Amino acid sequence: MAGLPSVRRMVLQDLVSVVEIQAMCYTEVVLESIESLASKLAVSPETCFVACEGEKVVGYLLALPWTSSAPPELNRVNDQACKEPDCVYLHDLAVSPYARKTGAGQLLVRQFLTTSEEFGFSRATLTAVQGSQAYWQRYGFCPVTPSDTLKRKLASYGEEAVFMKYGD
Ligand SMILES: CC(C)(COP(=O)(O)OP(=O)(O)OC[C@H]1O[C@@H](n2cnc3c(N)ncnc32)[C@H](O)[C@@H]1OP(=O)(O)O)[C@@H](O)C(=O)NCCC(=O)NCCS
Repeated sequence: MAGLPSVRRMVLQDLVSVVEIQAMCYTEVVLESIESLASKLAVSPETCFVACEGEKVVGYLLALPWTSSAPPELNRVNDQACKEPDCVYLHDLAVSPYARKTGAGQLLVRQFLTTSEEFGFSRATLTAVQGSQAYWQRYGFCPVTPSDTLKRKLASYGEEAVFMKYGD
């Protein structure tokens, strides 16, 4: 029987696998360019991870320090770090369909929460898409009632997107 996947920091070379996994996992939102994904990794390599079975990347999580008032626009290059972050934004989590329910998603989310805390952030945010709100609630994320400004900022994530917050 295969063991638990392992988790390590993401490196630039992993982005080829990341883009492949993204394409298998997202049908309801715009697929992000490799440039957009690479820019998040470059801004905050400490908060981006991959889950592996042996050498093979089977899942990934991209996150970066950000402001909790709204998410970054989807599929946009973030060439600068956020100047006054008050949370870590969990930008994307995806696990290859064949590797789901093996613990990969859970390991990535736990690594994200632990690392955010180590960096001094007690708050995290994300945008739930493809009906994943219930998944995030399991980890303690709660939906935020969107203001008109937030609704505009969420537009790039599609009509069903739900902005969620973890912590105070
Ligand atoms: C969400 C996702 C990363 C979970 O991967 P995983 O490795 O199976 O996750 P975990 O090990 O943490 O959790 C598995 C559990 O979550 C549940 N789950 C998975 N997706 C879910 C969803 N969209 N809504 C509610 N529950 C979900 C599974 O049914 C499973 O439940 P069980 O423990 O009762 O068997 C994976 O389904 C995926 O890549 N989905 C497509 C991309 C996506 O929607 N990402 C989130 C967008 S913000």
